[in-house]
Amino acid sequence: MVLSKQYRIALAARKGGVGKTTIGCSLASVFAAQHKSVLLIDLDPQSNSAYALGVDPSAPGTAELLMGEQPTPLVANEYLHVFPGGPNLNNQAIQSLHPEELADIIDRLPYEVVILDCPPGNENLERFGIVASNITLVVTNAHPFAIMGASRVLAILDSYRTKERRGPKEWALVLSQIDERRGLDKTLPAELQVMFPDIKHLMVHQDTNLSQAGAQQTPIVEYAPKSKAVEELRSIAQWVCKIIDN
Ligand SMILES: Nc1ncnc2c1ncn2[C@@H]1O[C@H](COP(=O)(O)OP(=O)(O)O)[C@@H](O)[C@H]1O
Ligand SMILES: [Mg+2]
Repeated sequence: MVLSKQYRIALAARKGGVGKTTIGCSLASVFAAQHKSVLLIDLDPQSNSAYALGVDPSAPGTAELLMGEQPTPLVANEYLHVFPGGPNLNNQAIQSLHPEELADIIDRLPYEVVILDCPPGNENLERFGIVASNITLVVTNAHPFAIMGASRVLAILDSYRTKERRGPKEWALVLSQIDERRGLDKTLPAELQVMFPDIKHLMVHQDTNLSQAGAQQTPIVEYAPKSKAVEELRSIAQWVCKIIDN
């Protein structure tokens, strides 16, 4: 089953700890609260998304899916299903699969929204997520190491477009964990506009509601429905829908 307007959103950054999983799980909960059917596919051997969404992070999931098995997606709520990551994603058999393997599998899955949470550091696993997406959100915080990681992902996205490979037609930079009381965070947005003038820039501020929601395994839309974080995530969701719908 192929949904013509399936929203497939990858969260990528070479760096860990910048907020990919937090943003991915929060976006998933925003879409689910709008009664869209959502599947979160965790490509990270650490399997943090499943934990944050309150399902078993060690259950069969993305690795088994990639190996051609038929794992049952875990039910976080009526609208939100999850394939957990896990250490099996590091298996050689998975790492050497064709980059479009996951994209082909997702073509047959009946969800309106698929969120692909990419791991840090592992280019092969990251590629499955990017190639399967129609929008990639490249996440960085204000740390120079994170910006370097984001630049690498952006260069790969550009090269896919140039070579007309399967992959997203559009991507955005998400500035994450921003707190304007810190010097770098204050000057960074304008500097990044100059560095990457041709893409959309989105922002998620530092908000303890986000870390608490993940730690307490509660979707942010339930944990802090009126928070700034939910407002920012809703506007990211809206932008994604606008781009894909057009
Ligand atoms: N916007 C934010 N505000 C507050 N804490 C955040 C925010 N984004 C991420 N965090 C916290 O930072 C840590 C790393 O985030 P995570 O989403 O796991 O990063 P990644 O998936 O990129 O490795 C987690 O403890 C998370 O709760
Ligand atoms: Mg993560």
